[in-house]
Formats: sequence, structure tokens, C-alpha cells
Amino acid sequence: MKDTYEKALEAAQFLQSKLPEVPEILVVLGSGLGAFADTLEHPVHVDYRLIPHLPTSTVVGHYGRQVCGYSDGKCVAAMQGRFHFYEGYTLQQATFYLRVAKLLGIEKLILTNAAGGIDPSLAPGDLMLIEDHINLMAANPLQGLNDERFGPRFPDMTEAYDPSYRAIAREEAARLGIPLKSGVYAALLGPSYETPAEIRMIRAFGAHAVGMSTVPETIVARHMGMRVLGISCITNLAAGVLERPINHDDVLEVGKQVAAHFTQLLHAVIRRM
Ligand code: ADE
Repeated sequence: MKDTYEKALEAAQFLQSKLPEVPEILVVLGSGLGAFADTLEHPVHVDYRLIPHLPTSTVVGHYGRQVCGYSDGKCVAAMQGRFHFYEGYTLQQATFYLRVAKLLGIEKLILTNAAGGIDPSLAPGDLMLIEDHINLMAANPLQGLNDERFGPRFPDMTEAYDPSYRAIAREEAARLGIPLKSGVYAALLGPSYETPAEIRMIRAFGAHAVGMSTVPETIVARHMGMRVLGISCITNLAAGVLERPINHDDVLEVGKQVAAHFTQLLHAVIRRM
């Protein structure tokens, strides 16, 4: 039986044979935010189904392919669609693509997501720089035997979201006149949205926004020493903040509305990473 490291090596070797060069940065595009990938120059598309050992993406609004192309001369790979715990994958499967990215030689990661706003300062359509996270998934992708080839048994998470990347994002947002809020992202397992009582609890914990992804990916990336930037697109207000039900169509719709600002900010940040 092949272990994760050997499987990731096979997948990395496959991608190396398909891509024009090793990308410098990997961008993971959240629900409704896939349009950024279509703005990369000289794109090469790789369907997830072709990549050895990769799971397939099952969520509406996620294409399930990687687009490798250029942003101002820099080679970038963008994941149009990620893998979630609620789809039934283990967190090890859901984050396997990051093991592949690392073995391919990628050291820089931008994680984006659609999230529900908890803090009163957040409104649908806002972009929120992730300062830190709270893992409420009751699981950790590093559970199980540790493979030292990837990283240490007990990785530090003090500065999970790279301080200098955060500074770059703030500076570029200000320069472009794009409002950028900031806060703490809490990850729930999903797929049911949270209840108002859960949101009151999560607010008391110190979170500003809530979603169903990103945290396992940050943990795995930091395990391997990758540097992480996280940006949430606030697509709705979390349960109970407004007397209004939450639905996935609204999440996708708001993603489309912020696509222009979001894409502009990503290109500007990538230039300086
Ligand atoms: N993703 C987008 N909005 C969300 C919400 N309110 N709760 C959890 N995940 C979300």
C-alpha cells in the first residue's frame, strides 16, 4: 500500500508533466469565487479527475479543476473547487492536494472562502482578511501517525496567517480603494448552516465570520511550513444575525457580485508575495 507521501509524489509528478512550470503560488477559490482563475493568462486546465489519488469535488459552484496560468508574469495555480469534510472525505483526503502542492515545490498559499458574517461590522459583499482561526470541526487533519517528511508532530499555529502577507493585503486593498475588513474565522463541519444559538456561542468565542473550510487547509499548510494568506468573502449574515434563512444560492450570487474587487485584489497581492 502506498502511503500519502508516495501518492502525493505521484500526483506532483503528473502535474509537473502537465504544467508549463512549477507555480510559485497556489490559490484556492471558495464557493462562487472561481472567476479569478479565468483571468490568468496562458491558462492550462487540469481536471481533478485526471490527477492521481485526488478526490473529486461534489459541490455546486465548484468546478473541480485546477487552472495554471500567469498573473503579471508570475506562475499561479488556482483551484476552482476544494474538498470539504461535509462531503464525506476525511480531513486527510480533503487536504491531500496541499501535500501535492508542497511536493511540487509550491511554498505560498492563498486560501479564500465564502463565509457568514457574525460581527456587526460585516455586511454581505465585504472581504475579510483572516487574522486567525478557531477550529470548531472537532477534528484535525494531522490526527494519526505523523510523517516527518512533511512536518513536525506538534506544529506551531501562533502565526498561522502570515503577518507580512496580511500587511501586503492591507496595503494593496488601501491603494486600490477596496474595503478590506479583518477578523477571526471559525470553521464548522457543516453542511447544515449554524443555528442562532450556535452563532451566539461562536461570537462569544471571539470569531467574526463562520464557514466550513480553510482551517484544515491552513493547518496542513503550516505543518509543511507553507506561508498562508486567507481571505473570506462575506456572502450572508450568519444565522440569527438577521431574521432570514441562509441558502447556498445567495452564497454563490454574492460571490459573483464581489468578483471584480476580489480578482483585482488577488492580482495585486500576488505581485508582491
Ligand atoms: N458559508 C457561507 N455562509 C456561511 C454561513 N453562514 N455559515 C457557514 N458557512 C457559510
